Amino acid sequence: MLRLVVLISGGGSNLRALLERCDEPGFPAHVVAVGADREADGFSHADEFGVPSFLVPFRHFETREAWGDAMLEAIRVWTPDLVVLSGFMRLFPARVVDALAPALINTHPAYLPEFPGAHGVRDALAAGVTETGASVIVVDHGTDSGPILARERVPVLPGDTEAALHDRIKPVERRLLADVIVRLAEGRIDLEATS
Ligand code: GAR
Repeated sequence: MLRLVVLISGGGSNLRALLERCDEPGFPAHVVAVGADREADGFSHADEFGVPSFLVPFRHFETREAWGDAMLEAIRVWTPDLVVLSGFMRLFPARVVDALAPALINTHPAYLPEFPGAHGVRDALAAGVTETGASVIVVDHGTDSGPILARERVPVLPGDTEAALHDRIKPVERRLLADVIVRLAEGRIDLEATS
């Protein structure tokens, strides 16, 4: 059974979907803690599922490095096998990535390497593409530039708003993330081999 720490910054709908999957009999992972860099609405999902949570507010620290070190310490308390960034909108300092990778993965609402960054859905719409996608990657020192573990295309429909397109991408992200976790648990993905 893989021990997951999930990090969020916002509403946590993908976190909630993962918590639901983890409750299904036979799912080979469970969320041992949920962490955030700010007061995130998604903590309510952790509470509802009886999962402990921790907050390491970015704004309480003088430097990104100091915040990252505190975050790393808070994560390590839970001895996770895998850390999942799920709507976590903050870049880790390099030394935190080095400490956790390759057991540090991120979901992204675009077909990477297309449209990396904080506004993957908005950027795809602005570019006028007819399809975008969802990806799950290993985190490296760049922005959404790490090895791709899974990705899938999602069509952009005429008249799509950012919210409508994002709502269509998220179920794909959730399925890809759960599939990656199952493949990891079953030894069908070797994270060490990706880095
Ligand atoms: C998800 O689409 C996730 O991939 C994205 O934020 C959303 C969080 O939604 N993350 C990024 O864009 C990171 N670059 P949620 O809070 O409803 O789960």
